[in-house]
Amino acid sequence: MKKCRLSIVGAGYVGLSTAIGYASKGFHVIALELDAQKAEMINKAIPILYEPWLQKSLQEAVKKNLLKCTLNLEETILNSDITFIAVGTPSKPDGSIDLEQIKKTACDIGAILKKKKTYHLVVVKSTVIPGTTENVVKPILEECSNKRCGTDFGLCMNPEFLRQGAAIHDTLNPDRIVIGENDPKSGNTLEALFADFYGEKLPPIVRTNLATAELIKYASNAFLAAKISFINTIGSICEKTPSVDVKKIAEAMGLDKRIGPAFLNAGLGYGGSCFPKDIKALIAYSHSVGYSPKLLEIIEKVNNDQASKIVETCKGFLGNLNSKRIALLGLAFKPETDDMREARSVLIINQLLAEDAKVVVYDPIAVPNAKTIFKKTIEYAESSAECLKGADCCILVTEWDEFKKLEPENFTAIMKQAILIDGRRIYDPEEFSSKMKFAAIGLGQKPLESHLDLVLIDPLHKNEIINII
Ligand code: UDX
Repeated sequence: MKKCRLSIVGAGYVGLSTAIGYASKGFHVIALELDAQKAEMINKAIPILYEPWLQKSLQEAVKKNLLKCTLNLEETILNSDITFIAVGTPSKPDGSIDLEQIKKTACDIGAILKKKKTYHLVVVKSTVIPGTTENVVKPILEECSNKRCGTDFGLCMNPEFLRQGAAIHDTLNPDRIVIGENDPKSGNTLEALFADFYGEKLPPIVRTNLATAELIKYASNAFLAAKISFINTIGSICEKTPSVDVKKIAEAMGLDKRIGPAFLNAGLGYGGSCFPKDIKALIAYSHSVGYSPKLLEIIEKVNNDQASKIVETCKGFLGNLNSKRIALLGLAFKPETDDMREARSVLIINQLLAEDAKVVVYDPIAVPNAKTIFKKTIEYAESSAECLKGADCCILVTEWDEFKKLEPENFTAIMKQAILIDGRRIYDPEEFSSKMKFAAIGLGQKPLESHLDLVLIDPLHKNEIINII
């Protein structure tokens, strides 16, 4: 059977991973990227973003002539049968979704569909609020093409669930596929593509209308964010409860099949390009349709409080942070990426700088991105040892593997004051608290009489004990 020819508008995370995924299975893919420098890099198989496996898969796709990046939308549409729209949907200042790129793309595609003689399927992959594909994309496509959706061309909404750092793996192995369809022919055409692409590994497919598919994406991300803020709430209760550790609680909870173990890692909270933006957009959408989504608002608040809490912990150890040297291990919003969008490190650094602390940071790959944000206001180290040297306190922000290998001696030997705050629960509390001052998200204090070395005396109210977290 002849394979469908595919095109993808927008070569960001979703667009590029999708393009490479399809090319890896022998499909011809044309990607449209308006940034000429990025397009040239893709055509030379130079990765435009950090992602494990991306370079290898990109090289193979370009070498086999299966993936081509162009600046020309007409070439993209006329030489393909199905077009995925994967352009950005950023937040406006009020948190609502900015649909400008989607609207422009729909209009440009429509103008080219006007010239096309054969059936073409347009698939929205960008995350958009319910009603966007039906009420924004469809009328623009119809108006600009002067054709009828459902007969002259097809339209689907196919949300993407891939994770940064696992983008290629997730493209090739999704848990499920959601097809929101304007009409049965559109849905059948897209389902046939997936059947060809996944073969025997075809995951469960949920077919639905356009708006339901759009909301499935937001609901999924909001639920995962809720799990994180839930376990962080339990963690905050643990911190006030002697000898109780949220990790044990999460382990036991996760064994309940109704709960499951994923996304129950207590820590500094979620960041990245999706969860924060999507929760904000869902809140704004919910208000716009007349429902006040209290649960979603509190998920966001709990998440943001985690960063402030860690700075308070730091102050609990050191008192005034003025001129204190605080070392941050990790900057990226999670390991295996250099992405610092909505990274918790950014909130923490800003709060530390507001307290006049001296901030020194190290991350295996995100330092160049950090330099564009913080410029010369902080120091950048080239190794964890350089970062820790002479520091008064260390905050572990991102759980990179190389940080998991650090022993207490790696801290105690070179820090000015051996104080470690574990923001991602990667260190063994027993081992580390026996050798240095140690605090961690979700970790209750030891009973006071047996571990007095962990207890701080508030200098303002001598003899009163203050909580470490
Ligand atoms: C997420 C969704 O997982 C994905 O389905 C969607 O398509 C895009 O958004 P991503 O942003 O790449 O993917 O990262 P993810 O691995 O989900 O982690 C998001 C954030 O949550 C990270 O900051 C991570 O550190 C944090 N997190 C995750 C926790 O704090 N605890 C956990 O248990 C899991």
